[in-house]
Amino acid sequence: MLAETESFEPVTVKPIQRNASAFSVLRKVMQNPVEGWPDSLYEDFIFEKQILGNRVVLTSDPEIVKGVLLSQQPVFPKPEIAQSIMSRSIGRGLLTAEGAEWKFLRKATAPVFQHKSLSNLLPHMIAVGEEVAQQFRSNPGEIDVLPSISKATFETIANTLLSGEEGNLDYERISDDVHKLLAFVAKVDPLDLFEATRNLPKPWARAGVKAAERLRGDAMNALSNRRKSSNATDDLLSLLLAAQDPETGKKLSEIELRDNIVTFIGAGRETTSHAIAWTFYLLANSPYWQEQLVDELSEVLGEAPLTADNLGQLNKHEMVLKEAMRLYPPCQGMHRVAAANVEINGLKLRKGDMVFLATYPMHRHKKLWERPNHFEPCRFDVKRMSSYHRFQYIPFSAGPRICSGLKYAMFEATAILASVVRTVRLAPVEGFVPYPNSRITLHAEGGMKLRVSPRR
Ligand code: HEM
Repeated sequence: MLAETESFEPVTVKPIQRNASAFSVLRKVMQNPVEGWPDSLYEDFIFEKQILGNRVVLTSDPEIVKGVLLSQQPVFPKPEIAQSIMSRSIGRGLLTAEGAEWKFLRKATAPVFQHKSLSNLLPHMIAVGEEVAQQFRSNPGEIDVLPSISKATFETIANTLLSGEEGNLDYERISDDVHKLLAFVAKVDPLDLFEATRNLPKPWARAGVKAAERLRGDAMNALSNRRKSSNATDDLLSLLLAAQDPETGKKLSEIELRDNIVTFIGAGRETTSHAIAWTFYLLANSPYWQEQLVDELSEVLGEAPLTADNLGQLNKHEMVLKEAMRLYPPCQGMHRVAAANVEINGLKLRKGDMVFLATYPMHRHKKLWERPNHFEPCRFDVKRMSSYHRFQYIPFSAGPRICSGLKYAMFEATAILASVVRTVRLAPVEGFVPYPNSRITLHAEGGMKLRVSPRR
């Protein structure tokens, strides 16, 4: 079993006090939701409050998380308000659908994300990883690594979703549109809280609405171009076009195809970019783990290039990525509503109660992890994994609605990580400490400045 020989304590947020007023909590949640989890959730498991007449329950208890996401999952849909706001921007794709509509989409699209389909896409991911590594190599010194990573994750989704003629996309414009769309989804608008005002025109939301319209237009163009093309491709779009319910043979409608294209671009890009950026920050501060990864690459690859076959053997890379997503989960919490009275692990929930699954506090919980705030990838050594509760680590969620793109994201992140550590050395920039902010995805406020220098 691997042992941790060096560990360090990276940056974390200052949580709000458990006795803070409802007003202070609401203000925090608007500015930086990850600071809005009360300090008690890091050592106890349940926190509840009455807010605007609703009972709101926050929990970092893995057993309750299991009940909400798995054993009692049908009782805990995503809240209607959140779904209707999301649907306005990304439509009715896998992320926003519920009930029978979701079941159909999930079953029909399962082959899109199977290991075999993804293996075909790996060469695209490896090529993009090499590009990032070469960019860093040719620009040594202090840089913000995030723009290169974001561009790489965009190119990966563009090349793996649309590898045909329609793949020639305008990075700057689409990237800007995805950002506007996510900012629009993430913004808590008080008018959305009331049915009477929810559908009023909101001039301040126009940029987000327009961005969503343009992205839907891009998706429709890609579909029509692909239908006109006679070239055979094995990308995600061709799998999506072939997707069908295994029992009834029903295929996705034009709107479902369009909304799932936008969902894959919107759900997968920023999450993966920030996971990789935090991983680089952690490695920059841990020369020991950087060398562990370089040694693993020498052992597994020797002088050979990265390929679809050897990527799966990079166990230490996987451990480092998992530890980075424990400390900085891109989706730092999830929101559900109780649709009936139910009891889980002694907690009595009533119909209508709001339930927040506190991923960030649970991933740093004092009773669940040793040295919870330390960077120690050895926690994810397979031999140790059986000592954890299956639901105390949920960066990709869990249960039937677990992230469809989990394997895709892990392949992509491993390809970029391996290419970069093989090519350059990462080090911290003196005086710069990134601060986590979770408006939209958990990102580093002010970017991710690091020092890169070429390896010989
Ligand atoms: C590090 C990268 C990623 C992380 C941390 C992540 C995390 C998550 C989480 C936490 C959820 C559950 C949200 C909820 O139920 O409230 C989710 C759902 C989803 N993700 Fe990801 N994701 C990542 C990358 C991707 C990628 C690359 C794609 C697609 C290409 C993707 C597609 C989806 C879809 C379609 C769903 C909805 C699944 C369903 O409800 O059935 N994700 N993701």
